[in-house]
Amino acid sequence: MALFRENILDMSGYVPGFQPRETGFVKLNTNENPYPPSPRVKEALDAVAQADLRKYPDPFCEPFRQVAGRILGIAPGRILAGFGSDDILRMIFMACVAPGDMIAYPYPTYSLYKSLAEMSDARILSADFPEDYSLPEELIGNNARVTLIANPNSPSGTMIPAARLAELAGSLKGILVIDEAYVDFADENCLPLIERFGNVIVCRTLSKSYSLAGIRFGFAVAQEPVIEQLVKVKDSYNTDRLSQAAAVAAFSDQEWMRLNAERIREQRAVLAAGLEALGFSVWPSQSNFVLARTPSGASAPRLLELLMERKVLIRYFAQRRVDDCLRITVGAPEEVRRLLDCLGELLERTAERKT
Ligand SMILES: Cc1ncc(COP(=O)(O)O)c(C=O)c1O
Repeated sequence: MALFRENILDMSGYVPGFQPRETGFVKLNTNENPYPPSPRVKEALDAVAQADLRKYPDPFCEPFRQVAGRILGIAPGRILAGFGSDDILRMIFMACVAPGDMIAYPYPTYSLYKSLAEMSDARILSADFPEDYSLPEELIGNNARVTLIANPNSPSGTMIPAARLAELAGSLKGILVIDEAYVDFADENCLPLIERFGNVIVCRTLSKSYSLAGIRFGFAVAQEPVIEQLVKVKDSYNTDRLSQAAAVAAFSDQEWMRLNAERIREQRAVLAAGLEALGFSVWPSQSNFVLARTPSGASAPRLLELLMERKVLIRYFAQRRVDDCLRITVGAPEEVRRLLDCLGELLERTAERKT
């Protein structure tokens, strides 16, 4: 007897970005925030560490629901917290997808969607993005049980207007997940769609704009009947006391988050302009990273390697459509400068070798 399900044996599994053990890297490979979280986070963590760790945490993370509800102008009953937004995605698959069901998403996008579909033994409708990364027509009115759109998208950094996603939501019989992991770096968001559509779930995370990738905290926003079903499949205590305290403290300090998001948006413009000056073509980004196609004659995987030798980490995806591109997280000014200087030097060497 096989020890594992056939679909698990067949899948390769999600591959996270490289997390070096040593320090000293300019780390622009996993879209982390270059700035620390709000100082209120440390205070909150110190207080919890001294108090209640022997007790189980609040299973519904009620204090966070209250704070986020007030700040976002949403009823707390429409919010569900998770162990990172990946946990929310996993709950959606568990609650909605049976083997053989159809899952739909554009390509290329966040590769966890494919891994989750494979874990669920679902069929996949993968619709290629057009070159400008607008919504693929094929997704409108599709019959999938769940359609997933990362908005802004990864790895392109691009964004589909909320009005277009409203059209998509209205055309679907199944659930539309709008994954807003990067939305605090963007000009608009899709939260208002929750009011209008009973089939929309918006996912958010504290990993990026709130600088808390290390504590794992995300949340879903949807109408109450959707949240009620997701609650049934969640782990009983899917966020712990430390992450709950950190999340409440970080979310309460909107000013800190906004300030850092603004600094990142400024550096995003510097990075994009610098890359273009070096001959890269850069897609317009609404997130904390940019996707850049390498100038002709330069090899993207080779640049990745040479940058790694210089202790600069970026992300490369050896897959169709993006195998001549680099995805680069927006860092602090000195990190962006270092990356651009290294790339400038490497491209100059490549050009000299050719002449
Ligand atoms: C589009 C997208 N959604 C979700 C996530 C995961 O976020 P979290 O850290 O909250 O699990 C990522 C992380 O890289 C992402 O790129």
